[in-house]
Amino acid sequence: MSYDLIVIGSGPGGYVCAIRAAQLGLKTAVVEKEKTFGGTCLNIGCIPSKALLHASELFEEAAHAFPKMGIKVGKPELDLAMMLKFKDEGVAGNVNGVAFLLKKNKVDTFQGTGKILGAGKVEVTTADGKTKTLLESSNIVVATGSDVTRLKGIDIDEKRIISSTGALSLEKVPQKMLVVGAGVIGLELGSVWRRLGAEVQVVEFLDRILPGMDSEVARQFQRILEKQGMTFKLGSKVTAVDKSGKRLKAQVEPAAGGAAETIEADVVLVAIGRVPYTEGLGLKEAGVALDNRNRINVDHHFASTVPGIYAIGDVIAGPMLAHKAEDEGVAVAEILAGQAGHVNYDVIPSVIYTYPEVASVGKSEDDLKAAGIAYNTGKFPFTANGRAKVNMQTEGFVKILADARTDRVLGVHIVGPDAGNMIAEAAVAMEFGGSAEDIARTCHAHPTLTEAIKEAALAVGKRAIHI
Ligand code: FAD
Ligand code: NAI
Repeated sequence: MSYDLIVIGSGPGGYVCAIRAAQLGLKTAVVEKEKTFGGTCLNIGCIPSKALLHASELFEEAAHAFPKMGIKVGKPELDLAMMLKFKDEGVAGNVNGVAFLLKKNKVDTFQGTGKILGAGKVEVTTADGKTKTLLESSNIVVATGSDVTRLKGIDIDEKRIISSTGALSLEKVPQKMLVVGAGVIGLELGSVWRRLGAEVQVVEFLDRILPGMDSEVARQFQRILEKQGMTFKLGSKVTAVDKSGKRLKAQVEPAAGGAAETIEADVVLVAIGRVPYTEGLGLKEAGVALDNRNRINVDHHFASTVPGIYAIGDVIAGPMLAHKAEDEGVAVAEILAGQAGHVNYDVIPSVIYTYPEVASVGKSEDDLKAAGIAYNTGKFPFTANGRAKVNMQTEGFVKILADARTDRVLGVHIVGPDAGNMIAEAAVAMEFGGSAEDIARTCHAHPTLTEAIKEAALAVGKRAIHI
């Protein structure tokens, strides 16, 4: 079975790469070890978590915001089984969509675990181990994604001690959930279960939440989450969890060491990051070099150290985001087809889908200070945005960071309603090398939340109108 390209893994990196390659005329095969296509993102990541975030946000809104708008629905009642079914149906719709797209683009699919037997050869073994198929191609793209980082000595059973995967399918709302790690997963899935009635406490190793995020944004966001009832124990680590009793007993120590305390909880969610997934791929035997964090080393063309073997997505360096994996999938397919595929890593938006949402693109103030780059800041709060006011959604702000010399936009950070959709405008402006003045002079529809972006851009030049 001979192909122009074999892609191992059908997540956002792999399936998008395969479709783009097929569009460009390459005879392409995808190998996927799970029963459904779509990878972490569609099956146990982006899609199910957003379904639960959406449903739980409406649940909370129905209880607290509806009465203020004159909508009487009584006290909303949770039907958790139905909510999980709604989530599962959303996942099914999406994974079936990927299967349809692969078929439509005439990509051959193989279900089984792919193993590289040296450059040009991939062996696919079915889950029962009974059938082995040999595929050949001069180009192999590894898009095998990532897996949960485990905490030493703490066994994840996905019932009481859970990873993000278990947190998407809890059959009962825990009375108390202890979240280990104040990163994206901890805050998103912590928010889901808090909204559904759990007491949620987050233990974070560092002295701040969301490392890497603009620190002003992270501080304000923490205050908002605290107002919602989430509590934080920063500068602390969980060292052990005793599951012998009815309730779990977590040992929590100061990060720097010191006396431990015991925190009881019904469920412990371990969300301390993800690691590249390279198990059983035969990379080492094939001579593919990994870095010190087990990621596949690639050059600017996504080529590994072995000719003909490429890698994209969570299994290589960079933010572990679906859209970053997708863009790399497109770029490597175009490179293999002789075109100039490229990813602009300076303009990769990132969004936390809590309420309010947090979205950013480009540099943070911390980055600019560390690099010694002079910048101007324009900030605009949603309290001064007409639409946010009338919607009673006034928490948060937009912050634009522009080069002090050229006015070019270097970073945009939004805490606020619908921030995830709004950040696209900033990304487009930055992709085109736009200035704060370009955004400020672009007519924005009224009344929309996006006017806060225009006002923040005006504020860079100290001429915001509505504040
Ligand atoms: P994956 O999606 O992990 O896909 C890899 C695939 O390869 C898997 O299907 C796996 O089964 C398969 N595979 C592995 N080894 C083999 C093998 N040897 N043979 C055959 N197949 C193999 N990102 C966002 O941008 N937005 C979000 O809202 C978001 N939410 C998330 C929520 C959660 C709870 C989690 C866990 C992650 C979330 N992410 C989100 C991150 C996102 O899921 C990943 O960045 C993205 O899935 C990476 O895509 P990928 O193609 O590199 O790998
Ligand atoms: P993360 O890297 O975002 O956060 C992990 C947090 O755990 C960090 O704050 C870290 O300091 C802390 N931590 C590490 N070890 C610890 C310990 N022993 N005790 C206490 N705290 C500890 O990782 P997370 O949240 O697991 O997410 C994994 C990846 O999935 C992220 O890289 C993210 O990009 C992606 N993702 C993206 C989403 C989105 O785009 N909306 C949603 C969910 C996940």
